Amino acid sequence: MTKSANAMWGGRFAAGPDAIMEAINASIGFDQRLAAQDIAGSRAHAAMLAATGIITDNDAEAIREGLLTVLSEIEAGDFTFSTALEDIHMNVEARLKEIIGEPAGRLHTARSRNDQVATDFRLWVRDQCDAVDAALAALMKALLGQAEAGAEWVMPGFTHLQVAQPVTWGHHMLAYVEMFARDRARFADARKRMNTSPLGAAALAGTSFPIDREMTAKALGFDRPMANSLDAVSDRDFALEFLAAASICAMHMSRLAEELVIWSSAQFRFAKMSDQWSTGSSIMPQKRNPDAAELIRAKIGRIFGANVALMTVMKGLPLTYSKDMQEDKEQVFDAADNLLLALSAMAGMVKDMDANVEALEEAAATGFSTATDLADWLVRELGLPFRDAHHVTGSLVAMAEAKSCDLPELSLADMQTVHQDITQSVFDVLGVKNSVASRTSFGGTAPANVLAQVEAWKGILR
Ligand code: ARG
Repeated sequence: MTKSANAMWGGRFAAGPDAIMEAINASIGFDQRLAAQDIAGSRAHAAMLAATGIITDNDAEAIREGLLTVLSEIEAGDFTFSTALEDIHMNVEARLKEIIGEPAGRLHTARSRNDQVATDFRLWVRDQCDAVDAALAALMKALLGQAEAGAEWVMPGFTHLQVAQPVTWGHHMLAYVEMFARDRARFADARKRMNTSPLGAAALAGTSFPIDREMTAKALGFDRPMANSLDAVSDRDFALEFLAAASICAMHMSRLAEELVIWSSAQFRFAKMSDQWSTGSSIMPQKRNPDAAELIRAKIGRIFGANVALMTVMKGLPLTYSKDMQEDKEQVFDAADNLLLALSAMAGMVKDMDANVEALEEAAATGFSTATDLADWLVRELGLPFRDAHHVTGSLVAMAEAKSCDLPELSLADMQTVHQDITQSVFDVLGVKNSVASRTSFGGTAPANVLAQVEAWKGILR
């Protein structure tokens, strides 16, 4: 038996779609997440249609009330979504018709699903920017807590994952605060740019009805209506900018996740994740695995994937709307869900993380990490050019290596065989605490700097 034609647009069709056509065409399985935004957009549109005299106040009132009923049904979970009705827009309108009858048919005046979906999706992505902003602020606060507690804890700073110079735990935490602050700024910037209203662009060319696009833009919290109707229905930059910002933020999180995995290993022992943020093994009773960090590190792949996928969907599409663009939503939904989950998990892990202060300090002293301090001493105290000081220090490192000891364990007499003018005071700079305390240049790792930065960030995050 052939199905009857679509109730919304089937006027010219004698038969309904093949079952597989219906399956590939329908988006209701995922775009039902836009219900609240769809209804907000429709309520604003109905109010505007009445204000401009396009429909009567009575009809607008019935539509606006009826839409609230539809929303409460959806929120309560007693709404039956229909695949035959394709998407959230037609599901809502069809139900509205069941509830209020004839006036429902006037809602779609001077509007198309093309400007409707662009509006709904923008509103949804805008909400996600706000949620991500709050989640980033929480993560930054967790990092600040660690930075404040460990402003003076010395740990190795790495380049090439080789011990390079001693740094402070607090300074390391604040590096991530800087990164996540840039992410916040990127989301805020994207939000500002996306906050323009496509509603009223209609199918693509605008409309002959005397609509008031400023009014609907304002009602939905947009800064202004988009100026070109073709652009309004075909633009998905807002979703791409969200995914681009999400990708960079996710990349930052993956670096922190990786460090937490390394730090919690028995070889490093730099930090312990709390019980709440660790899992055990079903066979090895001793295990304490940093699964949340590993999952964050992995989830980042979906976010990068979403970015590439949507860029690929949009690439080469002629203006204006093409059905390809229905494939924009799932990617963004998945990326936003996983980004928010990862941000919350990361904040929880960081907040609870227990640094092993002794292990950090011990590791900080390995690998001749104060060699640069020694070279700097030779420059400052003996007036050597830095290149010569570098060479002398290299000889001292080779000597320590031959004796299997660290730099501070060399005797003064040994050192003087390399350069006769070296004095006892050189030992002051060979300790890791002195090393970090001396790095007071702006942006340097000294505890005093860290505490000043912590105060500054607290002010910003308050
Ligand atoms: N479900 C569609 C989407 O998500 C809505 C817009 C459909 N417009 C159209 N002309 N078929 O993109």
